Amino acid sequence: MAPKVLVTRLLPPKTQARLLEQNFELIQWKENSSIPRDVLLEKIQGVDALFCLLTEKIDNELLDRAGPQLKVVATMSVGYDHINVDAVKSRNIKLGYTPDVLTDSTADLTVLLALGASRRIKECIQAAENGLWGKWGPTWLCGTQFTNKTLGVVGLGRIGEAVAKRLQAFGISRVIYSGRTKKSEQVEARLNAKYVPFDTLLTESDVIVVCCALTKETENLFDYKAFSKMKRTVVFVNSARGGIVLQDDLVRALEENLIGAVGLDVTTPEPLPPTHKLYSFPNCLILPHVGSATMETRENMANMTLENILAGLKEEKLPYSIY
Ligand code: DGY
Repeated sequence: MAPKVLVTRLLPPKTQARLLEQNFELIQWKENSSIPRDVLLEKIQGVDALFCLLTEKIDNELLDRAGPQLKVVATMSVGYDHINVDAVKSRNIKLGYTPDVLTDSTADLTVLLALGASRRIKECIQAAENGLWGKWGPTWLCGTQFTNKTLGVVGLGRIGEAVAKRLQAFGISRVIYSGRTKKSEQVEARLNAKYVPFDTLLTESDVIVVCCALTKETENLFDYKAFSKMKRTVVFVNSARGGIVLQDDLVRALEENLIGAVGLDVTTPEPLPPTHKLYSFPNCLILPHVGSATMETRENMANMTLENILAGLKEEKLPYSIY
């Protein structure tokens, strides 16, 4: 009997074509929106493999509904804070993700946010589009630049390192980082980076980029206290997960002019409703979680997820496994 595979979205075209060639009983959510929870709970019953996205919560309730035949869960994402990893592991289900392949696209977008926020790109675009473009003026729409500035990276993993490397090309002269562990001498040497306590990073950085995973330790790491310690001119960028920032505290910090400029690719919730206060700040640039959104990267992510599904169905070791 052909295995049953549930795929929770339409995939990028090349991988979608490859998916259709497989010898599965394919159950696929094809709408242009994430699969509603009640539909997911219904469709998951009796499947052998689940191909999911970061929009689906993988928890005990879902795994109970799936049944004991479920062999593999593969998420088309590098982040897996939407998955109860212990619950999946304790049932001997294989669990896959998509590391490495989105490092460049996400780092590019993080740099875009840092540059865009520091050069007041939101105000610039609005001025040009809304007829506010007056005569050239010596200080009109002046932002700041990165030459000889200090970059603070929170979470110097693959993406954090790629961001730092790119920003050094824009003139950053000092890289400091904080996180769970000090990195190896080789990693530090590649960037001439220094491990510092979180508070030092907050007080000494001109640009702060959040590149860490969302975990119990990093949830709400950036609260009012943290924002209060930053330089008043800081450029603060989060392209990791919205939950790392206590969003009401970020609003308060912006209201009190504690922060120079902000760039966000992630928020809580997602999508962030268009009426949210954060959109009202001219110095807060918000993008709709598009860090990995290049066709090349998304095809690679989808393809890796499919590879994980195929290996899991054959009860083989997953090529891109979380454990
Ligand atoms: C991921 O894969 O975790 C990213 O957030 C998607 O862009």
